Amino acid sequence: MSAEVAAQVSDLKPGSALRVVVGGVAVALARNSDGEIHALADRCSHDDVSLSEGDVVRNRIECWGHGSEFDLETGQPQQLPATEPVAVYPVQVDGDSILVDTSRTLNGL
Ligand code: FES
Repeated sequence: MSAEVAAQVSDLKPGSALRVVVGGVAVALARNSDGEIHALADRCSHDDVSLSEGDVVRNRIECWGHGSEFDLETGQPQQLPATEPVAVYPVQVDGDSILVDTSRTLNGL
């Protein structure tokens, strides 16, 4: 599978996140305050909580479950209780379209 259109840039304000499904995979699209867009697996590695429901602060997304923050580029948790990373998927922006490829990851998961 290759990249698919997941959403429009105009759907995603800086500092926000959005749940989308690409190729049957739930993805948390997150746009940091600089406007950069990242795509992470939309399930916290600590428990069954959607990361897309959390806050985006600088280059991290915070899980509302127990407060672990995940780096948007590496998927690594920055503090407990989560200890495992989440998958990070390649993102392309083409005009107003956000394309995500869930057939591979950027962090080896
Ligand atoms: S469910 Fe995400 S930190 Fe616990």
